[in-house]
Order: sequence, then C-alpha cells, then structure tokens
Amino acid sequence: MRDDKANLLVELQRQIDQLSTMEDHPLSFPDISDHPCDNTRLQSTLGALINEGDLHRADNWAAHMTPCISASSLLGQLLAGIHNGNLLSPQLYPALAKIEQQMIGWLCQLFQQQHGHFIAGSSYANMEALWQAKQHSKDASRVVYTSSAAHYSIAKACQILDLKLETIATNDYDQLLPDALQQACTVQRPLAIVATIGTPAAGAIDPLADCIRISQQFESWCHIDAAWGGALSILPGYKTLFDTASHADSICFDPHKGWQQPKPASILLYQHPLSPMLSADTSYLERPPLLNFHGSRGGEFFLPLWLTLMHSGIDDLREQVQQRLQQANSLAKQLQKHTDWHVHQSETGIVCFRPASSVDLTDLVNQRILSKAKVAGQDVYRAVFASSNTRANAVIAELEPYF
Ligand SMILES: Cc1ncc(COP(=O)(O)O)c(C=O)c1O
Repeated sequence: MRDDKANLLVELQRQIDQLSTMEDHPLSFPDISDHPCDNTRLQSTLGALINEGDLHRADNWAAHMTPCISASSLLGQLLAGIHNGNLLSPQLYPALAKIEQQMIGWLCQLFQQQHGHFIAGSSYANMEALWQAKQHSKDASRVVYTSSAAHYSIAKACQILDLKLETIATNDYDQLLPDALQQACTVQRPLAIVATIGTPAAGAIDPLADCIRISQQFESWCHIDAAWGGALSILPGYKTLFDTASHADSICFDPHKGWQQPKPASILLYQHPLSPMLSADTSYLERPPLLNFHGSRGGEFFLPLWLTLMHSGIDDLREQVQQRLQQANSLAKQLQKHTDWHVHQSETGIVCFRPASSVDLTDLVNQRILSKAKVAGQDVYRAVFASSNTRANAVIAELEPYF
C-alpha cells in the first residue's frame, strides 16, 4: 500500500515536472455556449493555463508568496474534491472529521493555543479575529492599532466591522515602534492590537512582547497576523519567538504561503472559546457554524497538508522552510558582496533591496522574477523565497547584468 502510494506520487511528480517542458500555447478562449467546445481549442487553452502556473516552479521565481505545490499536496486537493463532504454534518463523515480534529490539535500544539479552525485565508482570519475582539470587548472602545506596514486586510476588516483603524509608525525595517503604540493607547484605549510576524512587503517581525504587554495593560485583544511568518513555527531556532506569540489572544497562519500548500489553507487559532456571532435557526445542522464565518466546508483546507505530513513527515517540511531561508540569506549575502545596493534581509525569507538610482529593474518585475514594494516609505525591489525551487544563484544570474 505504502509502495503504491509512493509510486503514484512519484508518477504525479514526474507528470508535473514534464509540464515544464511543454511547448508554448497561444492564449485562446473558446466561448461558453450551449454545446461542448472544440477539443483542440480546449486543449490549447488548458496548455496555456498549465504553462502559466509553471511560473511558480521556476528556480528564478521570487515575485510573490505563491509557492510551487508538491505532488502529495496536489493529491490531497484531489482527495478533498473526490470526498466532497461537508463538516457542518460531521456524523456523516467521521473519517474526515477525525483528520480535521487531528490537524487542528497538531496546529494548536505547535502555536500553543487552545482552539482553532480552518479558514479560507488570512484576510478572513484577520477579520474573524477582530470580530471576536469586538464580541469579547467589555466597553465601547472601537480602536484597532496595527503598524503602517501591516497587511491591508486589517483595514478591510475594520471597515466591515465598523471599527476605527489607527496605524502606528514603523522603523526603517517595517517593525512597529512600541513607544508610539504605548503613547497612542494612552490617548485612545485599544479594542485590539494587531502585530505581524512577516509583514507583506519586507517580511518584518513586530516586537511581539511589547505589543502583547501593552495589549494586556489596556485589557484589549492582541491578534497576531502570522500569515507569512507562521511557517517558521516548526523550526527549533524560532521557539522563543513563538513562545512569546503564544501569549496573544489569537494568531493566524497560511500554510498556502510558507508551507507550500494549495490555496485555500489557513488556520485561525485562539486562547478563548469563541463567542457566538448570532443566534439563528440552524436545527437542521449537527454543527452549525455560528461561532465563525465559514459555512459549508470539506477537506480542502487541510487534506493537502495532512497528506503531505503523512507522506513526508514534519522533518521534510522543516527542511523545506530551512532551505528557503538559506536561499534568501544567500541572495542577501551575494548582493552585499557584489553591489553597493542597500540590502535588507528579513528573518522570514524576503529580501528587499534598493539599487543606485540609475539601475532600473522594471524588466525583471515584468518577467515576474521580482516585485516592487514600499518599505518605510521608500521604493524597493523585493525577492520572496516562498518556493523550495527558488535558488539565490538563479535570481543573481538575472540581476548580474545590472551590477
Ligand atoms: C501578512 C499577511 N497577512 C494577511 C494576508 C492575506 O492573506 P490571504 O491572501 O490568504 O487572505 C497576507 C497576504 O499576502 C499577508 O502577507
């Protein structure tokens, strides 16, 4: 059985690798009509689509947080589709429900939180965490503090929940300034403070201990957005960071970013039982989702990761994360050695740099090798090591003509 499974995965991986060698397909979109579309045109469109996704498997892919996906994860995604159960009725799907509980239990232990549920992405998770903060609040405070480098989903969540967002200034490395936070909280008591492990542009880690301390001082909710940086939680070298993070009220993490899982795979973990969002007649459901936002859901959030862990173990995942960080480190070192560019390397696998003003890397941005971002108000280029295929040397080879 194990051999069969291994063979299937090897074959799937071989097929995926072969996709990279397929010839270019012109973009052609058959019309949606009353009749099946022409097979040759459909094949050509499928080819173009598959080639487009090839971007993430390239060794010079460093534009965004979208990783290449392993064969076992893809198989897990397929499994979720084949199963197609709905965990609002767990008694119908005891095997799926058991695996969900096993995965939540493992993640709770890893992040040292008491409860958790899967969710479609950290934009949703950030909103739910603030929704809970509002439910748990003892007074009328509506102010949410986060750094100016935090993800825009915090602003969206505040708008949806009718909360007032106040952004706190950062240092040159995109980390929130704790003194500014302390001062702001003294003026307006916080409903919640959101700290980030891995800001979207620079990958910075906020001063967590300060954020949690200030939040406790004002009896407010502390949420940690670890959508990107949460991947580091399996590395022994980051135990102290995540020990500190465990004192927050809630934390979210996206395995679909730093653990190379297919979207959507996100988890929201929290210390306190959730407060019901509303009361409604849900008597036809065994487990109505009144505590959280999501309605129907099956194994799509966790079966890909579960199968990856079953097939390869945590050690393999750990090695992949470690390797991404090493490659980011290598890029930063090589840039520092061979150029006089201003280079900033975060701890979470993102390298930002600012070449001399005469150097224009727009071509590399257009080729999706790098991306552009703003860090502490300055324009930078950004290399994101999200994929275990991305190699520092391949990115350097693209940059060398500009040195
Ligand atoms: C720090 C951070 N938080 C939240 C998000 C939103 O995650 P999602 O796109 O899964 O909703 C992102 C996305 O890049 C992010 O980097």
